[in-house]
Amino acid sequence: MTTQKLIKVAIPITGAEEIAAVSEVIRTGNYVSGQKVATFEQEFASYIGVSHAAAVNNGTAALHVALAALGIGPGDEVIVPALTFMSTVTAVLHQNAVPIFADIDPVSYCISPADIRKRLSAKTRAIIPVHLYGNAAELDEIMDIAKDFNLFVIEDCAQAHGTEYKGRRVGGIGHLGAFSFFATKHMTTGEGGIITSNNSEWIALSKQIRSHGMVGRDDHVILGYNYRMNEMAAAMGLVQLKKLDGFNAKRIKNSFTILTQLAQHPDKWYQVPELSDHVKHTFFWCPLAIRPEAGLNTKAVVKKLREMGIEVRHRYATPLYRQPVIQNLSPYPNGCPFTCCTEGISQNYKDLYLPNVETIAGNVIGLPNHPGLNQQNLDYIIEVCNSLY
Ligand SMILES: Cc1ncc(COP(=O)(O)O)c(C=O)c1O
Repeated sequence: MTTQKLIKVAIPITGAEEIAAVSEVIRTGNYVSGQKVATFEQEFASYIGVSHAAAVNNGTAALHVALAALGIGPGDEVIVPALTFMSTVTAVLHQNAVPIFADIDPVSYCISPADIRKRLSAKTRAIIPVHLYGNAAELDEIMDIAKDFNLFVIEDCAQAHGTEYKGRRVGGIGHLGAFSFFATKHMTTGEGGIITSNNSEWIALSKQIRSHGMVGRDDHVILGYNYRMNEMAAAMGLVQLKKLDGFNAKRIKNSFTILTQLAQHPDKWYQVPELSDHVKHTFFWCPLAIRPEAGLNTKAVVKKLREMGIEVRHRYATPLYRQPVIQNLSPYPNGCPFTCCTEGISQNYKDLYLPNVETIAGNVIGLPNHPGLNQQNLDYIIEVCNSLY
């Protein structure tokens, strides 16, 4: 085995077409609130299978705007998984609402519907299932809970562009969907995000919120932000969207190649994920769990793989309720939303222990699987994984 140049875990795949599309916008000089954003919104909505979309400047803003558009506000409780990127939680805090953490399903790594039921209180207003690593959360059960308790569901699809749940694309099943187009995502606009829905009123409101709460050029009718997507990002998004299915096909093929080969070695240090037959997983991560019996330190595994020329993902290593901003109840200087606008919250973060999140957080790595890899890269990744320990 020969060590080689570092195989990156993720790369943005952009080229001449993206350069041409962005250059065209620069030549016109029309950078904001133009036709590219409007067209991108229509085409992305149609890809997801919904009638409306509102483009914004990143995925965190998409989640924030979605919550604001649904009227989630101070003291409201929003149920979130405790294993995800922190934005799912900070978006809730930005609305001065209270994140209530739920455990995950140990197989899918997505929020557990059974645990959501345990977290409901009189203050619960919404659930944010995250389609983690490109998998899909159990949306049928989550939508049933939402119906029974009159709650909103915002799908966090930042890691799941093109993922399907029972034949439907995620982002079109909950009340609203929120996507990110960060540089390493399935498709990118550099930075960017979008909110998807079949409800025209929520999307119209989202468009107001993203642009200073304005109607026309000078009337600020609601509290808004400057969260607009610019025309260059949208131009790039239009090109990337056309390539998305091709990127995903390659991402899925690469992941299957790696995982099926690794699955032939059941006695190794890793455990390959079990896949659901009603989900089309798009493998934002190619996840590999470290088997507890192997007694390995994940950080050491990550370091070793890097020394061997393979960069891997190793994030969300602690349950999010352990983050200082939550433990110290300190998102804002006056303690809001935890101590200023609510008579106590239904969850005690200090004593919280969600067993599946505790077991899994920090013990899953993501192997390189991006569309830019060749067969030689994949063979090398498999060989290195099997040579360790
Ligand atoms: C699950 C999840 N939600 C939200 C976000 C936020 O997206 P952005 O980085 O575009 O703000 C991310 C970004 O990585 C994410 O992974």
